[in-house]
Amino acid sequence: MSKEIVVSGIRSTGHLHLGNYFGAIQNYVKMQDGYNCYFFVADYHSLTTHPDPKDLRENVFRVLAENIASGLDPEKVALYAQSDVPEIPELYLMLNMLAYKGELEKVPTFKDKVRQQPDNVNAGLLTYPVLMASDILIHKAVKVPVGKDQEQHLEMARNFAQRFNMRYGDYFPEPQVFRFNHDAVKIMALDGSGKMSKSENVNATIFLSDDDDTIKKKIMKAKTDAGPTEPNAAMPDYIQNLFLLMHLSSRPEVVDIYRSQYNNCNIRYGDMKKQLAEDMAAFVRPIRERAVELQKDEAALRKILKEGAEKARASASQTISGARKLIGINY
Ligand code: AMP
Ligand code: TRP
Repeated sequence: MSKEIVVSGIRSTGHLHLGNYFGAIQNYVKMQDGYNCYFFVADYHSLTTHPDPKDLRENVFRVLAENIASGLDPEKVALYAQSDVPEIPELYLMLNMLAYKGELEKVPTFKDKVRQQPDNVNAGLLTYPVLMASDILIHKAVKVPVGKDQEQHLEMARNFAQRFNMRYGDYFPEPQVFRFNHDAVKIMALDGSGKMSKSENVNATIFLSDDDDTIKKKIMKAKTDAGPTEPNAAMPDYIQNLFLLMHLSSRPEVVDIYRSQYNNCNIRYGDMKKQLAEDMAAFVRPIRERAVELQKDEAALRKILKEGAEKARASASQTISGARKLIGINY
């Protein structure tokens, strides 16, 4: 039986952090054997904020290296840069004719951006969901591993697929959000201010490129409080987040010890953070070291991108030629 097709992308803005790792990359790694996977660096998507060309290049290489260092195997999946697959912007152009200004303006992520960068509300920002739909539909993917924040974009991808199918004949399957566990892992920033992210609260975010010392300092500064005052009390979300991080990086016995201390109201957060700092530093270290090694050999990374693009284009060119025919671009 042929494997189901999976697509996902990571934007090449900023450094990857624990949220990206546990919320996205770890799932990609788990999927690489059982599915036909297309994973890519969304470099075109990052152009909406006009990055410095030098930074863009560096970011693409780093994101690629960090994904491989985290366990993605370029032999098993198609790992490529979005901009190396010209069929994606071609499909984007076609789908743009089926996407309406009104619906695009209503997208919450677009409205957020309008608030954040009122002087740069460009058309690329407005049509971000159309480009994302093209990334997915170009391989006729059925499963898309993404976080909760991307669900609305996926719904739009289904709408565009349906609209194309209605007008030109049944062609695209409708892609669905894919999750391993029922609830997606969401990592909060260490200061409790919201989710860990690439651009906000850098000091409360642990990056895969952070060295041991930086990781330890950040964790020791994580928000805590005076501790629970009654047994088995509900945990505030920032304490829950520390336990989650501990669960992801420490041995189960260690987590149990602190959990029972919490339930018995004799937890010392300083000790817990020290333990977590050690374990998280040890967890990130091999990933960081491997990513640094990989980034030293740009020729090897370029080769991986080239081979990834070849795999992606083999599938993309088929999809686009079928779409052209259906539309009538068939002279
Ligand atoms: P982004 O960094 O926004 O480009 O997101 C890349 C991927 O990482 C998406 O699938 C996000 O849902 C996921 N992600 C980003 N931040 C977090 C977080 N704090 N917790 C869990 N997943 C996240
Ligand atoms: N928009 C996604 C994000 O910000 C990244 C992305 C771009 C993506 N194209 C995609 C994710 C296609 C899944 C499939 O996280």
